Amino acid sequence: MKVTNAEFVISAVRPDQYPGDALPEIALAGRSNVGKSSLINRMINRKNLARTSSTPGKTQHLNYYRINDQLYFVDLPGYGYAKVSKTQRQVWGQMIEKYLLERDRLKLILLVIDLRHPPTKDDEMMYDWLKHYDLPVCVVGTKADKIPKSRWQKHIKIIKDSLVLRARDEFVMFSSEEGIGKDELWSHISRHILE
Ligand code: GTP
Ligand code: MG
Repeated sequence: MKVTNAEFVISAVRPDQYPGDALPEIALAGRSNVGKSSLINRMINRKNLARTSSTPGKTQHLNYYRINDQLYFVDLPGYGYAKVSKTQRQVWGQMIEKYLLERDRLKLILLVIDLRHPPTKDDEMMYDWLKHYDLPVCVVGTKADKIPKSRWQKHIKIIKDSLVLRARDEFVMFSSEEGIGKDELWSHISRHILE
């Protein structure tokens, strides 16, 4: 996909703030600080449209980015960040759960995982939860630039095996730093938004 226009639309905390047009949505889920916002920026060739930070927990709402009047990327708050209060975590949890289960124009969830490490318990729980509700997932192993090429396959296998990746779910190796996997991820997204 050739991105000619990308803009931040809203940082939503309630369903009535979600955009009213019927564009398909692609959501990004993953551990706090794993690189969700960076991935959006790389996909749209923008340095910092989606706010990134080395401080985990930066994205706290559902941040909507409209791409080409064709789709939205929805950047979800990251999970597994210990410094957030329990009450706050429950509020986020409910908001995200409701979004994922009730948003009918949601076409695909990009579950972003750090390629360097085996999935965390939270990653496994998230994937199992998504599969329990039969939601389409593309697992993205990001930060590929941080490990040598010779070890990519080994790391991919560990992630696929630990999650017990289902046959219909895709896996894409990615690097926001170097652009690895960008075209492959766009081709999956393009297919899903047509479904
Ligand atoms: P939250 O909004 O807190 O949930 O974090 P996030 O998942 O949006 O992570 P973010 O994109 O803010 O990135 C976190 C840190 O990882 C930043 O310092 C990024 O520069 C770095 N980072 C993200 N992706 C990559 C990548 O592919 N390669 C490398 N080397 N660094 C990355
Ligand atoms: Mg973020």
